[in-house]
Amino acid sequence: MREVTIIGAGITKFGEHWKKSLRDIFVESALMAIKNAGVDHIDSMYVGCMSGGLFVVQEHLGAFLADYLGQSPIPAVRVESACASGGCALRAGFIEVASGLSDIVLVGGVEKMTDAEDVTFALATAAEQEYEVFHGITFPGLYALIANAYMKKYRLTREHLAMVAVKNHKHGSLNPNAQFQSEITIDTVLTSTLVADPLRLLDCSPVSDGAACVILCPLEMAKKFTDTPVKIIGSGMATDTIALHSRKDLTALKAVSLSAERAYKMAGIKPEDVNVAEVHDCFTIAEIIITEELGFAERGKGGILVEKGETALGGRIPVNTSGGLKSKGHPVGATGVAQAVEIFYQLQERADKRQVKNAKIGLTQNMGGSGASSVVHIMEVV
Ligand code: COA
Repeated sequence: MREVTIIGAGITKFGEHWKKSLRDIFVESALMAIKNAGVDHIDSMYVGCMSGGLFVVQEHLGAFLADYLGQSPIPAVRVESACASGGCALRAGFIEVASGLSDIVLVGGVEKMTDAEDVTFALATAAEQEYEVFHGITFPGLYALIANAYMKKYRLTREHLAMVAVKNHKHGSLNPNAQFQSEITIDTVLTSTLVADPLRLLDCSPVSDGAACVILCPLEMAKKFTDTPVKIIGSGMATDTIALHSRKDLTALKAVSLSAERAYKMAGIKPEDVNVAEVHDCFTIAEIIITEELGFAERGKGGILVEKGETALGGRIPVNTSGGLKSKGHPVGATGVAQAVEIFYQLQERADKRQVKNAKIGLTQNMGGSGASSVVHIMEVV
């Protein structure tokens, strides 16, 4: 296997893009990444997108976007794994460069959600249709079940959930590409509209449009393009049952710990070696459990981790410096690639006001549905 690096990145602002189409925002971020990398061509392309069909009635995105980017006839494929589509596209691009099949690969993620008539219906296609969706449950409802089980088992308080949102909005206030750049307080979260008890509006990631891209190439070529390539030293993926009722323990996310274990093993590092992480905080409870599954906190102690400020900028292991899904926004198929863009910026010391000092190793964790897919990447600046 060849060693693989990221040499360039591009990202649009996340939010509501009423005057731009899916292909406009994809191309905007792709051209930014191509320019940032300084490459004069790409050999192949992977695009993470959860549902072009349901959100904007456009499938066949590989060929569609390669054409609009002026790159036909390169090989180009759309990758789908619900909200983990972007992270899985990154893994596909990583494997292609590592195998020696292609040298310069563009990995993108895109979603245009705000044009859809029924976003909740479209998102729910990633849940179990017969046993979950048929009975009326949605993603906020599924995560509310997880939150209730966790709060009961580990005595997590409502305030702990709110602390995740407050932290991520604070980080997002430092990110010009974030959908919400306003700081919030515990009180604002606790008095926001109830969505699915105990989760309130400010515990939820929003509905967003956005796109992000990175350019990959083998390590031996990377220094031609940048003095600070970021090497992907670990890639791990795992799956679990889609249906929550089939899981032994609602308070754990098994695919997350397995994907992390695989990535840590490939990278030859331990959780304590990670300096900065972007994780899938689609709902506040998710960040609490994920930080435990990644080994940043003991089981049941994810709430204490955020309470002590250890996951905030300046803390022991800053998590979601971009604002995370909660504040930066969650255009579902773009999220996994956007996480890689943030870690790339952090490791290249380009994260401006949200820069983590001396960040050498970063981690991304991207999740599909209520935890049925998880993909983890570990990166190191060379
Ligand atoms: N965080 C902060 N503010 C939010 C928000 C969020 N998640 N969602 C909406 N808002 C704001 C809007 O900007 C708007 O503010 P304004 O009145 O100042 O313009 C206001 O709240 C109402 O927005 P609206 O779009 O009417 O909200 P909604 O009730 O239709 O949707 C949710 C709110 C939480 C139901 C929706 O964002 C949602 O479904 N989120 C979860 C998405 C999801 O499941 N993703 C997949 C995860 S696995």
